[in-house]
Amino acid sequence: MKKNKILLLIAFLGLTIASCDYAFVVPEEVPDIPSTEDVSFATQVLPIFTAQCASCHKPGGKAPDLTAENAYQSINTTKYINQDNPESSLIYSYAAPDASTHSWKHLSAAQAQYLLVWIEQGAKNN
Ligand code: HEC
Repeated sequence: MKKNKILLLIAFLGLTIASCDYAFVVPEEVPDIPSTEDVSFATQVLPIFTAQCASCHKPGGKAPDLTAENAYQSINTTKYINQDNPESSLIYSYAAPDASTHSWKHLSAAQAQYLLVWIEQGAKNN
C-alpha cells in the first residue's frame, strides 16, 4: 500500500515537472538606433510596410495605401504622422506591438522602433 502511494507520488511529480517543459520564446532584440544615424524611409521603413502591411493596405484595399509607390504620400499627413508627439502618430500607435487596436497585424518591437525613430527624425522621404 505504502509502495503504491510512493509510486503514485513519483508519477505525479514526473507529470508535473514534464508539463512545465515549454519552449522559451526568445524576445526579439529591439535595436538601439543611434540618433546620429538617419533611418531611411526607402531602405528601412518601406520594407516593413511591404512585408507586413501592403497585402491589405493597397490600392482598392484599406487606407492608408502602404504599397511602395504610394506609402510615403499616403502617410505624410497629420492624420498619420504627429511630429510633435511621434508616439501618438497613428501609423505607429495603431499597429504598435502592445496596441489594443488593429488585431489584424502588429508591428514587431524592432519594426516599431525603426518606424518611431524615423518619425522622430522628421519622417523624411529619404
Ligand atoms: C490582414 C489585413 C491587414 C494587414 C496585414 C494590416 N492591416 Fe492595417 N488595417 C486593416 C483593416 C481591415 C483596417 C481597418 C479596420 C481597423 O481599423 O482595424 C486597418 C486599419 C489600419 C490603420 C488605421 C487606418 C485609419 O485611417 O484609421 C492603420 C494605421 C493601419 N491599419 C496600419 C497598418 C500597418 C502599419 C500594418 C503593417 C504592420 C498593417 N496595418 C497591416 C487590415 C490590415
